[in-house]
Amino acid sequence: MPTYRIAPSILSADFARLGEEVRNVVSAGADIIHFDVMDNHYVPNLTIGPLVCEAIRPHVQVPIDVHLMVKPVDRIIPDFAKAGANIISFHPEASDHLDRTLQLIRDNGCQAGLVFNPATPLHFLDHVMDKLDLILIMSVNPGFGGQSFIPGALKKIAEVRQRIDASGRDILLEVDGGIKIENIAAAAQAGADTFVAGSAIFGKPDYKAVIDSMRAELAK
Ligand code: DX5
Ligand code: ZN
Repeated sequence: MPTYRIAPSILSADFARLGEEVRNVVSAGADIIHFDVMDNHYVPNLTIGPLVCEAIRPHVQVPIDVHLMVKPVDRIIPDFAKAGANIISFHPEASDHLDRTLQLIRDNGCQAGLVFNPATPLHFLDHVMDKLDLILIMSVNPGFGGQSFIPGALKKIAEVRQRIDASGRDILLEVDGGIKIENIAAAAQAGADTFVAGSAIFGKPDYKAVIDSMRAELAK
């Protein structure tokens, strides 16, 4: 069985109590904190930036996985690295020079990821596999939590799984959007190993119960 990672998205957390929320969700079994950055330009919503990343950093030991939904992307990367991000991922449409942006993330001491919207073709992977630590398949269109999983993402996950296996590299395959207890096994079956879940976890009073149920589904 692959190593599965649960990555709660703090987009659905209570921002008035964010330190407590991230501590609680890590105590409940989260492996990674997923940090959604939206700029009201690349996506139609506005969230949080490096200051908030820096503020939560001392509260958790697990990796912080920064999902940049911003354009342009390069100039904010050093700020997130300084703020304690471990993984930084971005959308190919938001960068004029994919290879340069991936290298910039690595030069800043972070792991690098590329994110694919439901309609973004996978050919962006063609020449950059050797610079990737993570590939994120969006199973909703980016911008909001609480949307429904788009089933077409499963086929895409399976295609990416093949590419990763063929590369022989250790690249995380993350899925983001509409992940719930009911569909996490299907995403794993398709080949995902890292699961972002916002509303499914933070929308419930007992985070541990949700994460335990997700792991039970993954163990079936
Ligand atoms: C959407 C974000 C997701 C979102 C997931 O643009 O990238 O991380 O917060 O939220 P749920 O799990 O509620 O779909
Ligand atoms: Zn995200």
